[in-house]
Amino acid sequence: MRVPIVDLYAQYLTIKQEIDRAIAEVIAESAYIGGRHVNAFEQTWASTLGVKRCISCANGTDAIYIALRGLRIKHGDEVITSAHSSISTSETITQAGGRVVFCDTDAETFTIDPDDIQRKITPATVGIIPVHLYGQAANMDAIMAIARRHNLWVIEDCGQAHLARYKGRYVGTFGDAATFSFYPDKNFGAYGDAGCVVTNDDRLAEWITTFARHGGKGDHIMEGINSRMDGLQAAILNAKLPHLPAWTEARRYIASRYDEHLHDIGDIIIPKVAPDRDHVYHLYVVRTENRDALRDYLTQAGVSTDLNYPKALPFYSAYAHLGYVPSDFPLACFNQSRTLSLPIYPEMTKEMILHTVKCIGNFFQESQEPDSIHVKVIQFAERC
Ligand SMILES: Cc1ncc(COP(=O)(O)O)c(C=O)c1O
Repeated sequence: MRVPIVDLYAQYLTIKQEIDRAIAEVIAESAYIGGRHVNAFEQTWASTLGVKRCISCANGTDAIYIALRGLRIKHGDEVITSAHSSISTSETITQAGGRVVFCDTDAETFTIDPDDIQRKITPATVGIIPVHLYGQAANMDAIMAIARRHNLWVIEDCGQAHLARYKGRYVGTFGDAATFSFYPDKNFGAYGDAGCVVTNDDRLAEWITTFARHGGKGDHIMEGINSRMDGLQAAILNAKLPHLPAWTEARRYIASRYDEHLHDIGDIIIPKVAPDRDHVYHLYVVRTENRDALRDYLTQAGVSTDLNYPKALPFYSAYAHLGYVPSDFPLACFNQSRTLSLPIYPEMTKEMILHTVKCIGNFFQESQEPDSIHVKVIQFAERC
């Protein structure tokens, strides 16, 4: 049996008529740029989340850049973000003129550690970008309290967390602005690149709209950029949105099956969910001391896996000049060689889930004396 990491075609087949109709409408209307599909998407996504404004754009990376520019980041301003994320989160800070300040993650949820945020604040700090990583909300109460205390803005990076909640409230509704990616394999994915910024601040929304559309129509009141969501992508997202709650439930179901079967297999540590958070499982990420061997074994058995991410951000070559060492980000660093993303997507069958679990069980049975992450975690905690 083959278990892909994601199967976008399988999803398409479940909603083929709706998608085909949406695409045909865009073509019939030549509504490729702007137009009713894009407008409808912006309105519907904003009202789904319960925010005032949604400004669509070309992708989730642009969304962060645009939000940063909208919050008027200046050269040398420091922005605090997580050491464990997609490079989109940090590269945009630099591109917008800021200085990236990385924080370590908390031990359980892979999200930014509020205590480390507190330690990293300097007079040059202007904002925080928490990432709701893998589909689980960051600790928003603690983050917003720090932001208020130090007069900082917050941009939530919701690239992996469509419909995730923190204390019952959707992520994307806490900060000054929030950004989404609709990259095809996301929980809510387009058929190409797409993204958006959401905010309750009308003035910010107006500035962002102008900036992302070449600085205005007719009169260009500023030099902007061109970052638009295609009509085709908007129409596809409009067709998909009614299905998102059911797809999210399907992801939760798969995660619960994995939890049930994997919690006592080998040295696997299953993902932890903080009690006040509704995880949407964009990714189901386990930790094991035997990550690379397990990954090879699963590949041989037809089960695809992924590394999200191969390194913690501060340890990529792009940041080598900053000269970080593992003890600067002990948890992110500890996790980078131990995390493994298992297949999870709504169309996964029960047989596929069981096959994946069985293969993992077989791996640990066949390994003579696999290293145990539990021992390592205890040793690591003692050292900290
Ligand atoms: C957390 C996070 N932020 C931002 C992005 C960037 O999104 P995009 O690929 O649409 O530019 C991604 C995409 O992988 C992401 O996972």
